[in-house]
Amino acid sequence: MTFDFDTVIDRASTDSRKWRKFAGQDIIPLWIADMDFAVAPAITAALHRRVDQGIFGYGMPLPPLTQAVVDYCATHYGWEIDPAWLVWLPGLVTGLNVAAGAFGEPGDAVLTCTPVYPPFMSAPRNMGRETVKVPLARHGPRYEFDWAALAAAVTPRTRLFFLCSPHNPVGRVFARAELEQVAAFCEKHNLVLVSDDIHCDLILDDTRHIPVAGLSPAIAGRTITLMAPSKTYNMPGLACSFAIIPNARLRTTFTRAMSGIVPEMNVLGLAACEAALRDSEPWRQALLAYLRGNRDLIASFSAQHLPGVTMLPCAATYLAWLDVSAQQLANPGEFFEAGGVGLSDGTQFGAAPGQFVRLNFGCPRATLAEALNRMKRALVAR
Ligand SMILES: Cc1ncc(COP(=O)(O)O)c(C=O)c1O
Repeated sequence: MTFDFDTVIDRASTDSRKWRKFAGQDIIPLWIADMDFAVAPAITAALHRRVDQGIFGYGMPLPPLTQAVVDYCATHYGWEIDPAWLVWLPGLVTGLNVAAGAFGEPGDAVLTCTPVYPPFMSAPRNMGRETVKVPLARHGPRYEFDWAALAAAVTPRTRLFFLCSPHNPVGRVFARAELEQVAAFCEKHNLVLVSDDIHCDLILDDTRHIPVAGLSPAIAGRTITLMAPSKTYNMPGLACSFAIIPNARLRTTFTRAMSGIVPEMNVLGLAACEAALRDSEPWRQALLAYLRGNRDLIASFSAQHLPGVTMLPCAATYLAWLDVSAQQLANPGEFFEAGGVGLSDGTQFGAAPGQFVRLNFGCPRATLAEALNRMKRALVAR
């Protein structure tokens, strides 16, 4: 079966947050992380079946869905999980916030490595915790953990480590040895590890995702893994995700912190999740091939036509991290917006001003090509 990622679907007239941001303006929105593609046919079919029932009372994940998650983890990551470890969540930002508040006391600290997805920095603050940001070390185009800086940042009040794996926005897929170092670090400093693996089925390079909790029983015992079909299968509006928490004590602390605050699961999200994980692998493979083409287009176009813009290697996600520092722009996000392309400015991820923009390439190639041409025109006209 072939899948169509080329057709441009009008989203400007819909409820899309991505497109509404620039309503009435000629700006191509390549910011927030959802894709301008229709979901896999199996997901649409499952939603039709569920809608046709016409009743939308309180729901719960049933064994076929739980089994789909268990099978998916075994097939895709070689990770054997127990259905009892699953905690369903309407969103992973919820999971980050719940985790930040569940462990330790107000005033305790959460470590994370920047640049990073903004809620990694805001969730601890929302919960009265301190966010301790340790920059990833950049060696040429490659970002790595800065172990000396991380060790120096730990205090007796550090409780949690927030890991983004694969990493948004720098696009790294961490190697086994690096994840083993993360595990050893958390064990040494007695930290609970929250590993947000939401992008783990969007690995574009020829590697397999390694859930850090799958490395050893010791690290499994202190890890909360956050996963969702929402990025890969393009369904964040259906609000369905889950935490995998092998340690019963951690799980109880986490679910207590959710109690009365986190809402019931959306029944349409549950139906879509099952279809995504069980029946949509051919669509995902086709998507990955398409995204690789988009990624490669940005790499070649920027090298040839975007002076002072360097695309850093993007091994996963559909988010390109572009180093624009050579252009010496005061606010690169605003600059490209004025040129008709809505990107995310790097400062949102904790980068210094004027250094980076993030470009969401989860869109038809024609849209991407037009956006790149607009960026070129904006730079040439400077
Ligand atoms: C690393 C990461 N975690 C979480 C999310 C959002 O999760 P949710 O929509 O389930 O709250 C995103 C969205 O871009 C993300 O990049």
